[in-house]
Amino acid sequence: SNRTFTMIKPDATGKGYTGAILDQIINAGFAIKAMKWIKLSAEQAGKFYEIHKERPFYGELVEFMSSGPIVAAILEKENAVADFRTLIGATNPANAAEGTIRKKYAASVGENAVHGSDSDENAVIEGNFFFSGLERF
Ligand code: GTP
Ligand code: MG
Repeated sequence: SNRTFTMIKPDATGKGYTGAILDQIINAGFAIKAMKWIKLSAEQAGKFYEIHKERPFYGELVEFMSSGPIVAAILEKENAVADFRTLIGATNPANAAEGTIRKKYAASVGENAVHGSDSDENAVIEGNFFFSGLERF
């Protein structure tokens, strides 16, 4: 597929990195197909990350993701899911390649600046979680 889903997380929006991160995403060849600035409730964040609910960091993750505003977006590019994960870098910024978004803007494995879908199937599920049919075209 040629689409992925991303969020700019509360650490990055709070530090004023939104513009720089969007710039890097666009300069890497991704087109923004849908985008919104929102704040998740803990309940909504918990639902989005339900797949991680048995993991030890789930509570921390839900608290963090509902702690401030995020930007949610659907992105389009050839090979979008894999290329976007390359652009953002490893989950832990300490392991992220030089120049990646997480290397530049993330503070820790938990507060890691951006989300990127891990499969075509999840990109669709995640985009549908945030955007109605009218907002996706
Ligand atoms: P996403 O693009 O956000 O899904 O990151 P990922 O696919 O690189 O990582 P994964 O799906 O395994 O984990 C989802 C999110 O949970 C991560 O992005 C982190 O925000 C958080 N997370 C993962 N591992 C840890 C951890 O060890 N501690 C804490 N506090 N958070 C973690
Ligand atoms: Mg993931």
